[in-house]
Amino acid sequence: DRTSRPRLTVIGTGYLGATHAVCMAELGFEVLAVDVDQSKIERLSAGEIPFFEPDLADLLRANLATGRLRFTTSFEEIAAFGDVHFVCVGTPQQAGGNGADLSHLNAAIGRLAPLLTRPCLVVGKSTVPAGTAAGIAQTLARLAPANHTNGAAAGTNGAAAGSNGAAAALGGVQLAWNPEFLREGFAVADTLRPDRLVFGVASPAAEGALRAAFAPVIAQGVPVIVTDYATAELVKTAANSFLATKISFINAMAEVCEAVDADVLTLAEALSHDVRIGGNFLRPGVGFGGGCLPKDIRAFQARADELGVGVALRFLGEIDKINNRRRDRVVELLAAALDGTLAHRRLLVLGAAFKPNSDDVRDSPALAVADLLARTGAQVTVVDPVATHNARRALPTVAYSDRVEDSVVTGADAVVLLTEWRQFAELDPARLGPLMRRRVVIDARHALDGDRWRQAGWVYLAPGRPTGV
Ligand code: UGA
Repeated sequence: DRTSRPRLTVIGTGYLGATHAVCMAELGFEVLAVDVDQSKIERLSAGEIPFFEPDLADLLRANLATGRLRFTTSFEEIAAFGDVHFVCVGTPQQAGGNGADLSHLNAAIGRLAPLLTRPCLVVGKSTVPAGTAAGIAQTLARLAPANHTNGAAAGTNGAAAGSNGAAAALGGVQLAWNPEFLREGFAVADTLRPDRLVFGVASPAAEGALRAAFAPVIAQGVPVIVTDYATAELVKTAANSFLATKISFINAMAEVCEAVDADVLTLAEALSHDVRIGGNFLRPGVGFGGGCLPKDIRAFQARADELGVGVALRFLGEIDKINNRRRDRVVELLAAALDGTLAHRRLLVLGAAFKPNSDDVRDSPALAVADLLARTGAQVTVVDPVATHNARRALPTVAYSDRVEDSVVTGADAVVLLTEWRQFAELDPARLGPLMRRRVVIDARHALDGDRWRQAGWVYLAPGRPTGV
């Protein structure tokens, strides 16, 4: 029903946009998604997801088949179609600095705004520095034709047959900010049933239009926090900063554990039973990576500096440093286990993705360590079940394999586990041992059964744990 169900568009079909478009169609909406990259649009239209994400391809194909979900490269088409436009373009780290690069966002708004001739809601989902939405709202006010027709005319058009009730109530083009909290690897579940929805709005009509666009999600009892633009923007950067802080906290404890031969895994477990602390995001290892946490804490610090409150976030610089020290620590542990030198050693690195169930290698701790190892002069082969394609482009100086074949194990001096894929935990140390030149394993994600590897004759080492455990 057009009067209660808005038509949705999604601008940008990367990780966030493709997932959002597919899931909103799955929830029953008509969705049209646009991207400037023609090849992406062709692949999505053919039912193919251009990245690895469990369950998403099946849902894509099912919703293409119903006709509810379509893709285009035409901004004219989405402007004519949509009542609610979700902007899902990337905001990566600036090439020469720590701040966020808003060029894709500004380009998308600049292209869309002049085409918006009837009342609609533009919804920003990208992660942005606080204050960005207010600027975009001004751009829309200036450039969107629907904001320049006189009120009565806009109202009449809006109420015309076939238009959406919630959109018509907007009177013109309005902006909302609706940060996204989905995790890679769980993108579908996190989108269909998020922990919370955050609506940054400047009017009750905008809140109404967003509620209509999320009606099936809200009906499941998902909490909705309605607030202003700046608070909505901050919720996202604060959440990612908190998560990064939790990970670096436990990794800092790992550093201290190493100094007194204590066990960070037992420490973390004991902490986790305190419900005020909780056990999530308390897994020590080689630290956080990916396209979000690292760049978000840096951009947050950069924005706070601009706002004159940089001192409040100075600790985030420490969080970043603790995180990077974990990468160096793996190299140190390995060098110590191989008599102090890595040059010419043959090393088998398990993992390239920044975490399991993803082919994303952006700021991947695994690839960063592989790079450090290669720079010592070691001969490195990286194994990852899905990420070698992306990894090859990001780090061309090492060898790759999609599986732990005998040929990549044969003659190796050490195995270093850096991404906790399930298939690595299932490796049989007794079978691999005889293929190795030396039996040394560094379990940087605490994913292996140390006792089992030791019993099979391996030197098993894990950061933050006593060497004899
Ligand atoms: C993260 C947030 O968890 C999402 O809520 C957010 O929406 C997303 O960023 C984003 O801003 O788009 P994601 O990057 O997919 O999601 O991955 P996480 O599951 O958060 O993992 C981040 C990194 O931390 C990974 O490298 C992971 O290995 C590491 N990690 C995570 C740990 O080292 N220890 C832990 O206990 C948890």
